[in-house]
Amino acid sequence: MQRDALVDGHGRRIGDVRVSVTDRCNFRCQYCMPAEGLPWLDRDAVLTFEELTRLVGLLASMGVANVRLTGGEPLVRRDLPRLVGMLREVQGVEDLALTTNGYLLERDAAALVDAGVHRFNVSIDSLQQDRFYAMTRRDALPQVLRGLDALRAAGAGRIKVNAVALRGFTEQEVLPFAAFARERPFEVRFIEFMPLDADRAWKPEDVLTGAELRAIVEAEHGPLVEEEREPHATARVFRFADGAGRLGFVEPVSNPFCADCDRLRLTAEGALRTCLFSLRETDLRGPLRAGATDAELERLIRDAVWRKELKHRVNDPGFVQPERSMSAIGG
Ligand code: 5AD
Ligand code: SF4
Repeated sequence: MQRDALVDGHGRRIGDVRVSVTDRCNFRCQYCMPAEGLPWLDRDAVLTFEELTRLVGLLASMGVANVRLTGGEPLVRRDLPRLVGMLREVQGVEDLALTTNGYLLERDAAALVDAGVHRFNVSIDSLQQDRFYAMTRRDALPQVLRGLDALRAAGAGRIKVNAVALRGFTEQEVLPFAAFARERPFEVRFIEFMPLDADRAWKPEDVLTGAELRAIVEAEHGPLVEEEREPHATARVFRFADGAGRLGFVEPVSNPFCADCDRLRLTAEGALRTCLFSLRETDLRGPLRAGATDAELERLIRDAVWRKELKHRVNDPGFVQPERSMSAIGG
């Protein structure tokens, strides 16, 4: 059944949902989780694949055609390819993407590609083994790089590598990543550090901006050429002047892209969030498990979306960091 488009109170049409399939993770990235991990949700608190598929189907019927699976680390849900297969069958879902830390890709890449994942983002913060360990608290760089190769071998379509940019760390990573992006068929994207860390250590000074990163690259490689921005894109994408390689810069802090944000987020326990930085969320699991009809769920979703935040307030005095960290929201 086709429903009316999903539109927020600022006239933005919603077309994208990030679905967290678990809050658990096998890494402990400094900018996300404490070293000892977080108290995980009970298994029965997490939505089942059937529940997720029903909610995604409802959203898709309102025009939310782009679906990205995230976590925590989504591959720690062992039978994730089964969910992908279920979502591929959902009418209205046009694009299925996955964000992963890559640790289990060697095991799952082929199954995920076969099941229907079109696009992959693999998080890698350093190409040097000891520095990768320092950031993720896991000595796993070789394993993750093998995961990238497994994706290629499986015939995955678009593959991006995401690096969180932190002052005092990423300055040294930029040029090796630039070389990597030129030599290998992966677009590398730098993401400005956001106040979503469980340790609440974020400070504005810790953000290494896209402009600063580009300056480092341009000092070495000459001016980069910016590509036209796709609608709703979060990254500014640049080519090297000789055509070899692309770099993306996601600048949520220095250059927010809220104005045409078309996304929603669904947490692992079925809370609908209209912004990464939302201070309120809408429980869908309760009504779902209490037997709500599609029409009742649709009403809850539309009401929540209507109140979608105009923009985030990270740069405003009095900014309040949400209670949830990135792993509990779903990147
Ligand atoms: N700031 C910016 N990016 C973050 N990620 C996790 N925590 C943060 C943060 N505090 C990134 C991960 C991954 C994606 C899901 O979000 O590295 O690429
Ligand atoms: Fe895990 Fe991703 Fe958080 Fe790192 S950023 S701890 S890989 S959820």
